Amino acid sequence: MNISVFGLGYVGAVTSACLAQKGHRIIGVDLHATKVAAFNQGISPIVEPGLDALLKSGSESRQITATQDAAEAVAQSDASIICVGTPSLPSGGLDLNFVLSVTKQIAQALASLDKKHVIIFRSTMLPGSTRKIVAEVLADLVLTGHLQIYYCPEFLREGTAVRDFDEPSLAVIGNEDGTSPVPEEIAGLLGGKPELLRWEGAEMIKYSCNYFHALKVGFANEIGRLCKQLGEDGKRVMQVVCEDRKLNISSYYMRPGAPFGGSCLPKDVSALHAFVRQQGLALPLLENTLATNAAHQQLFVQLIEGKQKRRIGFLGLAFKADTDDLRGSPLVAAAETLYGRGHAISIYDPQINLSRLIGSNEQQIQQRMPHLAQLMKATPNEVLQNSDVIVISQKCTTIDALRPDVRADQFVIDINGWEDLKTLPWQYDGICW
Ligand SMILES: NC(=O)c1ccc[n+]([C@@H]2O[C@H](COP(=O)([O-])OP(=O)(O)OC[C@H]3O[C@@H](n4cnc5c(N)ncnc54)[C@H](O)[C@@H]3O)[C@@H](O)[C@H]2O)c1
Repeated sequence: MNISVFGLGYVGAVTSACLAQKGHRIIGVDLHATKVAAFNQGISPIVEPGLDALLKSGSESRQITATQDAAEAVAQSDASIICVGTPSLPSGGLDLNFVLSVTKQIAQALASLDKKHVIIFRSTMLPGSTRKIVAEVLADLVLTGHLQIYYCPEFLREGTAVRDFDEPSLAVIGNEDGTSPVPEEIAGLLGGKPELLRWEGAEMIKYSCNYFHALKVGFANEIGRLCKQLGEDGKRVMQVVCEDRKLNISSYYMRPGAPFGGSCLPKDVSALHAFVRQQGLALPLLENTLATNAAHQQLFVQLIEGKQKRRIGFLGLAFKADTDDLRGSPLVAAAETLYGRGHAISIYDPQINLSRLIGSNEQQIQQRMPHLAQLMKATPNEVLQNSDVIVISQKCTTIDALRPDVRADQFVIDINGWEDLKTLPWQYDGICW
């Protein structure tokens, strides 16, 4: 393909060199005459291992050229990749002015050309930015049917950018609806096996990744500071924590849904929180973990109450399926709050047999929900028959078995995001979807 790359900074220079190496013809565009001149001479405008050699050979073979003239570049290319900066505003927000200005230049050039073109936004932009820019700047061109628009976040790291381009940690393509097929020649530009989402989803992934990285650094540093105070080796502790690829460095726990609960997480987070305070340390990430969970729990109850129905059903009461452990269950907390506020509660949980509850589990129920026995139903369908809002944290039975008792005026609040619950004719909702 003939490709214009707008912005010859870290991302644009690496993108240009690596795509040229794959056989594409690249026209780099930048505002700065010195960067354009350097590019034309095959000299890298940035320091990045491996880049000099790629740019030199690309420039020698005329596979890579550069210009300050956006219109000329667009006229000669099938696709424009936008890699201009999106710096921080003094408010901390994101400055999209460079992206907007480049998009306007491309739109202007295309308006007089009447040809097919692809625009790929690669700059990091907040969710909703691509759709806003498309509506504000590209709407007329979209109507011609000649323009395809993608948002493809960049995950390369400075210092290993060339290798990261060839072997990306993640490849993501966003298009308008998140489902229309992406031509092979576009997907092939990114390397890897791209995941397809809507523009907003792709934008969100970039921020989720970087936020997660920042969170990991913050977490490791807080554990490190606590370890130092205790005379323990924080590096060794975190090294061992990272050895666990099943629960720690894995997708386990990494999905939106219920607040955390159970007999361990709330107790242990709370204990470490108290310990950190005793130590006189300021560890804001650790200290705020309970607060974020409490906010999530509150929102969960608000969501149920927001349906403005009196009869509330729960399919699943334990903090997860296949256990009868009710300690710290966010479902118990929600049921208890709602019962206290006068709601009629019905519950079914296949593992909760009150006559078999013993020890701290029984004690917990006696203290917090002594009336639980009256609220339990013998089947999931009885819960459906007696409820106008149903909170589902466990499937308990099949979709087909539930179907006869589902009503169109019922609300379901799905804790886990089970797609098949959407196929029943009730009104579907969740805390995170
Ligand atoms: N640097 C990274 O490691 C990295 C990694 C992933 C994503 N990103 C994102 O990619 C984007 C680019 O980052 P960067 O570090 O390459 O930025 P950069 O500041 O190094 O380069 C941006 C370039 O865009 C040029 N530019 C600005 N307006 C222009 C215009 N109207 N026409 C042509 N060129 C124009 C600037 O002159 C500059 O050379 C940002 O949104 C950034 O957040 C960066």
